[in-house]
Amino acid sequence: MIKILGIESSCDDTSAAVLCDRTLLSNVIANQKVHEKYGGVIPELASRVHQQNIIPVVDMALKEANITKNDLDAIAYTRGPGLLGSLLVGVSFAKGLAASLDLPLIEVNHLQGHVLSHFLEEQGVEKIFPSLPFLCLLVSGGHTQIIVVKDYLDFEVIGETIDDAAGEAFDKCAKVMGLPYPGGPVIDSLAKEGNPEAFSFAKPKVADYNYSFSGLKTSFLYFLQKKIAENPAFVEENKADLCASIQKTIIDILMIQLIKAAAKTGIKDVAIAGGVSANSGLADRLRHDGQIYGWNVFVPERKFTTDNAAMIAITGFFKFRKSLFSPLDVTPFARSEKGVRPNFDSSDFSG
Ligand code: KG4
Ligand code: ZN
Repeated sequence: MIKILGIESSCDDTSAAVLCDRTLLSNVIANQKVHEKYGGVIPELASRVHQQNIIPVVDMALKEANITKNDLDAIAYTRGPGLLGSLLVGVSFAKGLAASLDLPLIEVNHLQGHVLSHFLEEQGVEKIFPSLPFLCLLVSGGHTQIIVVKDYLDFEVIGETIDDAAGEAFDKCAKVMGLPYPGGPVIDSLAKEGNPEAFSFAKPKVADYNYSFSGLKTSFLYFLQKKIAENPAFVEENKADLCASIQKTIIDILMIQLIKAAAKTGIKDVAIAGGVSANSGLADRLRHDGQIYGWNVFVPERKFTTDNAAMIAITGFFKFRKSLFSPLDVTPFARSEKGVRPNFDSSDFSG
């Protein structure tokens, strides 16, 4: 049995998890409330709070797993993409701990972690896993991609956003309505009371399986400015309908390309992952469309949708099995450009 400690610090959540093979023993997440009053994540503050949180969070993860650091077989950490100052805290901590315990280090791509969270097992929980190859719509605060998952460590990105991510679209639209950050979950809950057909917004036409969300954000802003000029209480009086309508538009945009990708590839196992996969409207639509198109659909449990170290540990487990270890001089990477970082190429991820 392999015991892996996972460490995640790419944005504003400090998280540590312990995995025994594929079974989760603990998954501790410390959220940073400090950013709420700024309406977005402040990188410098995030990095400092990670420094305060990392030791207690790892300590708690080991305690909850009922093991000590001497029982560990490897340490997996998020190398990127993310905020450099935040990543540095997790990367440095992981290196220090691995060096002191003489354990192998495993670098993990945060996005790959989101996707592989579908393979986490929990004691006493019956679960059906996607069969390979499967299609995954990865929707987070920084990324929107359609990925063909050929094997655990062999991903092909067949479509992605050319500008904003789906999570950014949620957060920016929430911000112009004066809703708190992060706006995605707030829109999700207000949308439940609203009419998704109340307002309609233009959907972009983007080639292949790619996405664009920046136009939607701008047209939503202009639409609101016009309405507020006529009636200053417009947002307050129509909040639920606005949330339901903007959420439906974002989901429509996401599903159009996903349906095209599923038809083209012929893949019937279709999953969603990443922070936006916590959206109840998106999950409902995936299930609904899945019935129409004969898909087996996979929606992660809510606790595995947003950033967590369990997903880093499970990716670490698949890399451990192939002895894909990283040296001590590895540095974090902030962005996902080719050549700057390990991409989702099979050459980078398979053994
Ligand atoms: O994956 P994640 O935790 O962090 C990144 O890797 O970016 O995703 C965060 C994003 C934020 O944009 C947040 O608003 C969005 O996920 N999000 C949601 C929901 N919960 C989180 N968006 C829509 N509905 C939700 N329920
Ligand atoms: Zn994430």
